[in-house]
This record gives sequence, structure tokens and C-alpha cells, in this order.
Amino acid sequence: MDSRLLKGVPVRDAVLEELRAKLTSAPRSPGLAVVLIGEDPASQVYVRHKEKGCEKLGLHHVTHRLPPTTSTDEALALVADLNNDPAIDGILVQLPLPSGIDQDRVLQAVDPAKDVDGFHPDNLGRLVSGRPRFVPCTPKGILRLLAHYHISTVGRRVAVVGRSVIVGRPLALLLNLKGEGGDATVTMCHSRTPDLAGALKDCDLIIAAMGVPRALGPDVIPEGSVVIDVGINRITDPTHPKGTRLVGDADSEALMGHAAALTPVPGGVGPMTIAMLLENTCEAMARNEGWHGLG
Ligand SMILES: NC(=O)c1ccc[n+]([C@@H]2O[C@H](COP(=O)([O-])OP(=O)(O)OC[C@H]3O[C@@H](n4cnc5c(N)ncnc54)[C@H](OP(=O)(O)O)[C@@H]3O)[C@@H](O)[C@H]2O)c1
Repeated sequence: MDSRLLKGVPVRDAVLEELRAKLTSAPRSPGLAVVLIGEDPASQVYVRHKEKGCEKLGLHHVTHRLPPTTSTDEALALVADLNNDPAIDGILVQLPLPSGIDQDRVLQAVDPAKDVDGFHPDNLGRLVSGRPRFVPCTPKGILRLLAHYHISTVGRRVAVVGRSVIVGRPLALLLNLKGEGGDATVTMCHSRTPDLAGALKDCDLIIAAMGVPRALGPDVIPEGSVVIDVGINRITDPTHPKGTRLVGDADSEALMGHAAALTPVPGGVGPMTIAMLLENTCEAMARNEGWHGLG
């Protein structure tokens, strides 16, 4: 069987192109503020990708880089300023925060109307009730990717491996909602799932969001299933010029010819996450301005 590669880059480009065209008639540029605290190397890279996305789309954007010694109160003061800044429609607090900062307090301080990541309890609660305001970017990007490649979720058995509040849990909720993009029968797995292969056995769509490099191979992934690989893991690889490389949670090499389709890492879900962040920021501006140009 030839495995189909579900690339995210062309889908991201199409999303951005569509947004760019719509924004030509917008009342003003949407504004995104990124709060980056500490020196986590992966966070620095993600924020750079987000900045590049804003530049591509011509969004007003500002990144606040704070040292790892920042206190919870200092982070809260910055969030309060951004909440009151009328040029800022979306606030993104890059996670993880350094261990000395109360992450929950900072995330809950973000105005839910500017919470373009969709992590505020108010927005998560709306998601549970089936009336989402901001849908978390990675789950939203996965659904958009599936729609682009005409992979329906309706009536399908889907397994989500990983139950984080950022990816697995909101994704499982979305897949469970009534209507297109949902209507799936969802199995949620996590580190305490005793028999992963048994849990995945009858599923034809598997979404891996575990953060464990190449953990899912042909021994647990059913033949002919579709695999969406959310994981981004850096592993050492002496054959690579940098000595390291990125791999997903799925063992993509072993799954070639076994899975019907899978997303590459990098270049699969990651680009979609950024596209959805920019889309959520545009939606926030549209709501603030009472503008209906996004459709
Ligand atoms: N592509 C993107 O845009 C994007 C966005 C966000 C995250 N990511 C990547 O996605 C991965 C997951 O991120 P996250 O923030 O969701 O991670 P996380 O908060 O660490 O959550 C990992 C989840 O996986 C479960 N898990 C861990 N080992 C497992 C195993 N052996 N079998 C079954 N379940 C297992 C954990 O179970 P417990 O709950 O029992 O601990 C937990 O629910 C990471 O590699 C991250 O870098 C990518």
C-alpha cells in the first residue's frame, strides 16, 4: 500500500492566502501580542515561526521577551497591560512558563476575548458546551487538515493518544461534537492506558499527541488507518549535520506502506497550528470591530 503524505505547508499557505485576501477590506490590521518568558530553545523557535506568520499576513505583532527570573506578578502586570491595549486583539502566552511562575494564574488572567490560544477556562467551557469562541489552535488545525484532504470524521472510530489541555482533550471534545468535523466515536488514551494496541485496534483514524519519539509503529497502529502525528521531538542523530533532528510520536518510516496516510514531522500539524493562531487573531479583530468580512 502506498501511504499518502498529508502535508500541512500547502494547506497553511492556502489558509493564509485566503485570510490575506479578506483582510484587504478590513477596518484595521489585527494585532497579536506574544509573551515569551525564559530561554526554552523550542519556545524561541516556535515564537519565531509565529512572528514570521504575522509578517507574511501583515498583522500588527509584538513579542514581549522576559527573563527566566520574571515573577508571577510581573507576568500578570504585562498581561493586564495587553488586556487594556486596544491595538491588541490576541494574546498568546508561550508555554511552558519557567517553573517559578504560576502558569494557571497567568493563563486565567488573559481576557477571554483575547485568548486566541483558547486555553482560558471560559473558552474551554464554551467548547465543552458546543458553542466555542476560540478553538485551541492545534486541534483546530488538525480538523482543517482533515477537511482539506477530505478525510471525514463522521461515524468513524477515532483514537486520540494524549489528554493534555492544549491538544488531546480539546481535540477529543471537538471530534465528539455534533456535525461536520465531529460526529466521531472517540477513544481517549493516555499513559495509564494498559493495552494501547487493543485500544487502537478498531480505530481507522489515530491522532498521536504524546511527546514520545516514534512511539507508535505498526505493532499498535492498525493497517490502513490514517495517522495524524502531533508530536515534535528532538532526537540525537549523528548522521544529521546538526547532530539532532525532529521526529514525531509516530514511527513514520516503519508506518510507510502500513498506514493509509500520515502527516510528516516537521511540515504536518505544526504549520497548521500557526495558521489557526493567525486565523483566531483575525476573528478576534473582526469581533472587536463588528466586521463581517471573514465570512
Ligand atoms: N505540532 C504542533 O503544533 C504541536 C502543538 C502542541 C504540542 N505539540 C507536540 O505534541 C506532543 C504532545 O504535546 P502536549 O503538550 O499535549 O504534551 P503533554 O502535556 O506532555 O501530554 C502528553 C500526553 O501524552 C500521554 N502519554 C505520554 N506517554 C504516553 C504513552 N506512552 N502512551 C500513551 N499516552 C502517553 C500523557 O498521558 P498522562 O496524561 O497520563 O500523563 C499526556 O496525556 C509534544 O511532542 C509537543 O511538542 C505539537
